[in-house]
Amino acid sequence: MNFEIGFGLRRPHYAEILREGVRVPVVECISENLFQMRGRPFRVVERARQNAELLLHGVSLSIGDMDEIPTDTLKELRELDSILEAKVISDHLCFGRAHGRRGFDLWPLPMNEAMISHLVARIGRVQDVLGRRIALENISAYCRFEADEMSEVEFINQICLRADCLLLLDLNNLLVNERNFNQPATEFLQELDLSRIAQVHVGGHSDLGTHAFDDHASPPSDACIQLFVHLTQLLQATELNLKNTDVFTILEWDGNIPKIERFYQETQRLKKSIAGMRATKSMNTKIDDSLFNLEKAEREGVRI
Ligand SMILES: [Fe+2]
Repeated sequence: MNFEIGFGLRRPHYAEILREGVRVPVVECISENLFQMRGRPFRVVERARQNAELLLHGVSLSIGDMDEIPTDTLKELRELDSILEAKVISDHLCFGRAHGRRGFDLWPLPMNEAMISHLVARIGRVQDVLGRRIALENISAYCRFEADEMSEVEFINQICLRADCLLLLDLNNLLVNERNFNQPATEFLQELDLSRIAQVHVGGHSDLGTHAFDDHASPPSDACIQLFVHLTQLLQATELNLKNTDVFTILEWDGNIPKIERFYQETQRLKKSIAGMRATKSMNTKIDDSLFNLEKAEREGVRI
């Protein structure tokens, strides 16, 4: 099992990436930035791909809505995939469109049997057109439905199993939901079907006093990093037959975007957080600071 860590491509970094490429093994691009366009964002992706694997991450599939899935979106995705050979194609487990109108947001879905059946059919259609599995991301939310019949983790497990799709696990979103719905993130991970994880997101959020707000305007919190370490421990400790052999982790940062050097620092912090654990062979070993030694891990040939 390989843990590759990188970040999402953001506009303020385009010039630098065009000039120098990237120094991480994986990057994520918003799929819609490339739809029907082969301009600057596309050139940035092509440049980044000289050094890194590419993940395509969509924001407008609206997999849970009641409208027909737009054929042109699927055609675009299929064409992009054939050109760019994305390691993962993902979108969100949500709806963002209703009665033909787009909300430009990611809204939660009722977590019940009827919605699972609806999603399974629609995910199947997308996967048939693309000829591969897609990954769907657990979202952060601020409300729940009276029509909910199950927990979020049960809902996600059922969808992944019955649609035979993958999971993009956003750890920051788990922490937002922990705060907003008193839904412990570690319990969520304990019950999650880990074998479906193809990709992980980490990022930051703000606490507004009454609730957590998912603004992606800060680095991952210590709690998010700890959750990431916990997840990698769970993955390593479980004899998993992962649907994907690599687990790609992407730093998301969308507001108050700092210079690209800070992105590199944050990916290093994530690497270091698991370097000691991975150097220790035994996954039952308790992690302590003395083991967070990147150089030692690299000397021992651990791929981080
Ligand atoms: Fe995310």
